[in-house]
Amino acid sequence: MYKVLNFGSLNIDYVYSMDHIIKPGETEAAHSRGIFPGGKGLNQSVSLARAGSDTWHAGALGQGDNSILTGVLKDAGVKLDYLRTHDVPTGHTVIQVDPSGQNSIILFGGANRSLKDDEVEETFSHFGAGDLLVLQNEVNGLERMMRLAAQRGMKTAFNVSPFTPDLLDLPLDLCSVLLVNEIEGGAIAGMDPSSDPDKLIDGIRHRVPQCTVVLTLGTRGSVLSIPGQDLLKCGCCKVKAVDTTGSGDTYTGFLLTMLMKGEAPQRAMHIAAAAAAISVTRPGAACSIPSLSEVMASELMQKAPEFKG
Ligand code: RIB
Repeated sequence: MYKVLNFGSLNIDYVYSMDHIIKPGETEAAHSRGIFPGGKGLNQSVSLARAGSDTWHAGALGQGDNSILTGVLKDAGVKLDYLRTHDVPTGHTVIQVDPSGQNSIILFGGANRSLKDDEVEETFSHFGAGDLLVLQNEVNGLERMMRLAAQRGMKTAFNVSPFTPDLLDLPLDLCSVLLVNEIEGGAIAGMDPSSDPDKLIDGIRHRVPQCTVVLTLGTRGSVLSIPGQDLLKCGCCKVKAVDTTGSGDTYTGFLLTMLMKGEAPQRAMHIAAAAAAISVTRPGAACSIPSLSEVMASELMQKAPEFKG
């Protein structure tokens, strides 16, 4: 059985429920505030583990009480052997959520951006050929991690989020799976993000021909391109959204797990879409991620959702 090393962020999410996402110059009272475990890295570790992957979360916390973060990881069965504590503040976010469940996020990296080269190298010494490295863009040292994974014969799945222009200088040719939304995909392809999804995939594939490319399109669905195979498309399951924070992370963890386990790719997309849909019906990011058994028992699995691209 493969092992997953997810080198990623851990954030305490301060989530404010608002009438609308505030504009420059506005002051607006929040209806409520919730404090949740989050961070794209942590959310994806929880999702990978709940979907059935043997998962280690590596990264860094700051000083203070971080039990809200370690607790949700442990509950999901994620191993924390390579999680360090540094003398800086823990990462956190300020998230506004509007009545439709849409969000806007301020990210403070803190300890997530304090990873040290020797700690990173020591962590990789525990993983090897056949294992999967999962990365997002909320920690420092991504280039070194991609190179270490390649040297050790690991596969790398890179979720290009949140997008920053320096990501285009990373050795993306060392990645096996690239997960992008249309903005990120447009930047990689050098194309207008509103281009037809098939053309966007062609543009991305031109840049990273060796990669399996996953293009997520929000409520329209997603497109999967595996080298040498026909494009696959899947819609987004229709549910009443309460909080969309972390839905992309849920999709990522379930899709990667299903593909690693050899599930048929089209069905893997359906399972991931159903998991993401369940997650948006509940508040918070990591806390809202369902287990595989909940997903499989859900009525959302009865019919694959239609692609709306
Ligand atoms: O993808 C959602 C996550 O992005 C939130 O949990 C927040 O911490 C930010 O990193």
